[in-house]
Amino acid sequence: QDDLFKNVISHAKEYGFIFPSSEIYDGLSAVYDYAQNGVELKKNIREYWWKAMVQMHENIVGIDAAIFMHPTTWKASGHVDAFSDPLIDNKDSKKRYRADVLIEDYAEKINIKAQKEIEKAKVRFGDAFNEAEFVSTNERVKGYLDQKNAILQRMARSLESDNLADVKALIEELGIACPESGSKNWTEVRQFNLMFATKLGASADTAMDLYLRPETAQGIFVNFLNVQKTGRMKIPFGIAQTGKAFRNEIVARQFIFRMREFEQMEMQFFVKPGEEMQWYEYWKQTRLAWHQSLGLGAENYRFHDHEKLAHYANAAADIEFNFPFGFKELEGIHSRTDFDLKAHEEYSGKKLQFFDNETNSSYVPYVVETSVGLDRMFLAVFSKALQEETLEDGSTRTVLRLPSVLAPTKAAVLPLVKKDGLPEIAREIIEDLKWDFNVAYDEKDAVGRRYRRQDALGTPFCITVDHQTLEDKTVTIRHRDSMEQQRVTISELRGIIYNEVSM
Ligand code: GAP
Repeated sequence: QDDLFKNVISHAKEYGFIFPSSEIYDGLSAVYDYAQNGVELKKNIREYWWKAMVQMHENIVGIDAAIFMHPTTWKASGHVDAFSDPLIDNKDSKKRYRADVLIEDYAEKINIKAQKEIEKAKVRFGDAFNEAEFVSTNERVKGYLDQKNAILQRMARSLESDNLADVKALIEELGIACPESGSKNWTEVRQFNLMFATKLGASADTAMDLYLRPETAQGIFVNFLNVQKTGRMKIPFGIAQTGKAFRNEIVARQFIFRMREFEQMEMQFFVKPGEEMQWYEYWKQTRLAWHQSLGLGAENYRFHDHEKLAHYANAAADIEFNFPFGFKELEGIHSRTDFDLKAHEEYSGKKLQFFDNETNSSYVPYVVETSVGLDRMFLAVFSKALQEETLEDGSTRTVLRLPSVLAPTKAAVLPLVKKDGLPEIAREIIEDLKWDFNVAYDEKDAVGRRYRRQDALGTPFCITVDHQTLEDKTVTIRHRDSMEQQRVTISELRGIIYNEVSM
């Protein structure tokens, strides 16, 4: 698993997808730059999402709100007071951790013990195995699971009531040690706000404290009535947005999984109070189906329903993906009630209500939100697509089996040799196709090596121009996944590519 993940990171760099930010200065922790191929893949994921959400839904429209917002926005949304992580330092190693992550990791170790026992029993009992019965009757397994649940519940209770002393007490009672030094000498737990602050204006007395938005959602809430009125939208309707968000994450590891500057793709769906649970279920299923439609394997996705809810939600679930380091959150679906709109009404003194013509009455809508990290989606797609294959002749190839609709380059055009007029024909093909698709030209190295390079970049098609092309205007088109080659006329190329790469 570790090796697989290392491969993903080095492939992303070597093939021009992702570079560490400001690398010549040794990089900046949890900040990354998208390179020439990465930016195309990222853009394609964004467009794939936008089409599915905005273009395909008559009642969803998009906006692009500013990153800077009036500072009161973040008072109203609860982020100033509640958007924080519980921090703890180890006194000996001087390392800083999230207290909740230390406890969750500990609980997960106990859970793994229970899961191992269950796996062993599955093998022992074969078809006769009934997991639910085994778990409830086997004292040892039951003990592990009860212990795990008790730990997580106590932590959730303590965090909910802001009882940070008890979070520390729990860490001490469990004997959790600093992973680096083994020391159990911890400081108090304190809350650390994740928002980045800056100033607007030059003069010291009039400058206003600003925050870089930690989620794009608030730009949608404050524009709710503007969009509803100017778009003559009727409930239920949605507003979608993609854009940068910023969080001063404490535990910033795992490459682009948890970044300090990242991009979100969010949609707020405004519904009639009382109908939120049916829409919540609808969006859970719809978003899962969207992910699965990419063809990376339905078994790599699962739901995780939240027990511990964020300050704004009355129901919440994650769609988790099987990343190289295990199942982790990819997207969140949250039933946010009228928390945000009500809070903005209160803080701004402006009404944010929908007037229902049919009943002749106004109300503050409830909101169901879908929120997916674009960078996380990139990591999901990229890590699953990257495969090492052993071919029939025993040789190996690295192939990036990206869904064709997302591939940075749709076709590479390769003259077999650099002479006899073949490069000129290849250029003509490119001139024709480039209006519809991203296409690349490559004439360097033997054609076999060029195929391998395009495989590693995820290019679905290689089009090879050879001497026969001079005679009959046909080329070979090679398919990345099957490596099969077909002889087709140049005029057929557009149709073949279009069929494969369109949504
Ligand atoms: N508006 C709701 C919201 O922001 P969230 O669960 O905090 O909810 C939504 O974030 C999604 O944004 C996550 O599921 C994840 O994909 C992405 N995300 C959150 N923090 C991130 C980070 N530090 N780096 C990359 N992606 C992140």
